[in-house]
This record gives sequence, structure tokens and C-alpha cells, in this order.
Amino acid sequence: APDIPVSAVRADLDQLQSIASANGGNRAHGRPGYLASVNWVKSKLDAAGFTTRVQSFSRNGATGYNLIADWPGGDTDDVLMLGGHLDSVSAGPGINDNGTGSASILEVALAVRSSGFQPRRHLRFAWWGAEELGLVGSTHYVNSLSTTDRSRIKTYLNFDMTGSPNPGYFVYSASGQPSGSLRVQQVLQQYFSSIGVQSELTSVGGRSDHAAFARAGIPVGGTFTGAEGIKTSAQAQKWGGQAGVAYDRCYHRSCDTTANVNATALDRNADAIASALWTLAG
Ligand code: PHE
Ligand code: CA
Ligand code: ZN
Ligand code: ZN
Ligand code: ZN
Repeated sequence: APDIPVSAVRADLDQLQSIASANGGNRAHGRPGYLASVNWVKSKLDAAGFTTRVQSFSRNGATGYNLIADWPGGDTDDVLMLGGHLDSVSAGPGINDNGTGSASILEVALAVRSSGFQPRRHLRFAWWGAEELGLVGSTHYVNSLSTTDRSRIKTYLNFDMTGSPNPGYFVYSASGQPSGSLRVQQVLQQYFSSIGVQSELTSVGGRSDHAAFARAGIPVGGTFTGAEGIKTSAQAQKWGGQAGVAYDRCYHRSCDTTANVNATALDRNADAIASALWTLAG
């Protein structure tokens, strides 16, 4: 798998920050900064040769949008899908939550193109709307699929908050998830082991967009660097950072800006995503 340049991920975060700043300080559902974010990500994918589609839905009297991007080729009866939410809360620009996951999967998608990789499986990427209103966009997407199209999606990987300023290195636990999830968990754990990072398993339950896929019986997985939870002293010993302090003190706040990102965590997670994609896509 290619090494994803963290400089490229950070440049994307700068763009999302600029979009928020030009649109009242946020990228929330129903606000102009959200659609501007969708259009910006879409333009990069279109230029790289992805087949993109914007799926609309309605919530709280406003239109929401999911951006779906397919990489042409591969076995369309065996789809590997990666996603993350592109909306922020209305309180701030949402750079760690979830500019980080959004920008990381974008750079991994662009690396598929630049590497010339020809995956055995079909690759699909998604940027979800209205996650912050209750997983609305991802749920709409899964519910909109025909039974056949749903059954073609064999794996869904979710990335929501991958650059927390006081980071943890969490991999979604396969426990209680559809069978097939264990393989995803192990591939992500293996990547962190290979770079000498001791990851921990976390039960993210229904807290992010993988939940709609899991409910449909699709194997899921992902990584996470922590939100409002408090880093323990044992975690600070193995990961560095500050014990007794939240992984992300700016979670859902106006200070979730480009200053609220740990570049090492961002880099390691972007590389973990690439590693998982290359390993799982075959
Ligand atoms: N989905 C949560 C949010 O956007 C963050 C989160 C991600 C929590 C993953 C737990 C696990 O606010
Ligand atoms: Ca890297
Ligand atoms: Zn629809
Ligand atoms: Zn959030
Ligand atoms: Zn989030």
C-alpha cells in the first residue's frame, strides 16, 4: 500500500476550514458550508476519474446530500466500501470531526488512481450528510438500496475522527458485529502493530455511520482516535499525550479547527486506511 502523504491530508483540512470560514463558521446540514464541502470533494474525485453521484434526502426542512464515488472496475458483486461523514455540527468547522476521516479517505481514493492499483474487488467511497443529526445520510443510503445492491456490499469501513489532538489508537471491535468484521478488525490491528503502535479495541456501537451497514448484516470496521472520553494514564504511557484530559477537548465546539489535529495520528490513520484497502481489495 502507498504511504499517504499527511501533507496532502492537511491541505484538504485547510480547504475544509476555508469553506467553513467563508460560510458562517460551520459545515452543518442545511447550511451552505455543507454543500460547498460536497462540491469541493466531488470536484477532486471527478478530476481523478471517479464516477460520482450526489444522493439527496430531506431532514428538518433542509436538503441533505451524500456523495458516492465509484472507482471503475473490479467485481461489482463484491464491493468494498469506505466512508465517513462530511457534515459538522453547527457550533464549529468540524475539522477533527470529521474533516479528518473525510480528507483521509479522499487521499486514499486519489492514491488508488495515482498508484495504478487494479483491485479485484469493486471500490466505493462515501461522504455522508447529516451524521450529526443521527446518522441520517448513511441510513438513507442503506435503506435506498435494492436487496440485490445491498447484498453486493461485502464490507464497509468507517472513519470518523482520526486526528484527535490527544489521540488514542482505537480499532472498532468486531464483537457483536456481523461475521466478517473480525477480518477487518485484524487487518487494522495488524497495521498498527507493524508500525509499533499498540492499538486498543473500542465498541463504537451506534455512534457513527457504520451502524446502518451493521444493521443490514454487512461486515464493518474502522479506526477512531477518541472524542470526549478521557485518556487514562496507561494510555498516555503507551501513546504519549496527556492523561486525565479528553482525547478531543474541542469535540463539537467552535475550536474544532485545523489547530485541533494531531498530525502524527492523522498520518498513521491515513496510512492504516490505505493498508486496509490494499489488503482487503486484493
Ligand atoms: N460519531 C460521533 C460524532 O460524530 C463521534 C464518534 C465516532 C464517536 C466514532 C464514537 C466513535 O460526534
Ligand atoms: Ca503517511
Ligand atoms: Zn433518496
Ligand atoms: Zn460529531
Ligand atoms: Zn463524527
